[in-house]
Amino acid sequence: LKLGVLVSGRGSNLQALLDARARGELKAEVAVVISDKAGALALERARAAGVPAYHVDPRAYPDKAAYEQEICRLLKENGVELVVLAGYLRLVGPVLLAAYPERIINIHPSLLPAFPGLEAQRQAWEYGVKISGCTVHFVDEGLDSGPIILQAAVPVEEGDTAAELAARILAEEHKLLPRTVNLIAEGRVKIVGRRVQIEPQDR
Ligand code: GRF
Repeated sequence: LKLGVLVSGRGSNLQALLDARARGELKAEVAVVISDKAGALALERARAAGVPAYHVDPRAYPDKAAYEQEICRLLKENGVELVVLAGYLRLVGPVLLAAYPERIINIHPSLLPAFPGLEAQRQAWEYGVKISGCTVHFVDEGLDSGPIILQAAVPVEEGDTAAELAARILAEEHKLLPRTVNLIAEGRVKIVGRRVQIEPQDR
């Protein structure tokens, strides 16, 4: 299964995919990485792993549709079958959604539907929840709103700072994303209405 990973920054989730691949634990390969931000560390991580990496600047296009057409061109050119949003700080528009129907996933650092949007870990910490976590879900036109594939729970410990909670969640993200990609690669993830069913492993 060929992956196209969209990023905007640090790229630690991208790195988790690359590392899982290097260990022989990913049933997919990262075929291309695309960032909307020029200086993204994620682009360096991709290149260090020998993966083609591109910066596509949204400001260089007349509108979002034209920007996403260029992204789709790069994805198709690299044979991408599944698009992974890993810290990509933009809403996906109709052009990209139509090019990859039910084939775009996102990782989010909260137990959705709680705390969508930016700084979800801080939102959860400020709210005072005692359990948070992370979610991998299919992407639709909304903000962190598509069908949920997998979640992992993370306890909020007494005395945690928001940063400590975020770090604990991130460690779980790095396991959850490769696991989800493997389930999809195995053809075990089915969308039924707004729910996702995970089929049992073949014996
Ligand atoms: C992660 O917390 C992810 O859940 C959120 O953005 C952050 C990206 O981190 N969508 P990184 O770029 O993968 O290090």
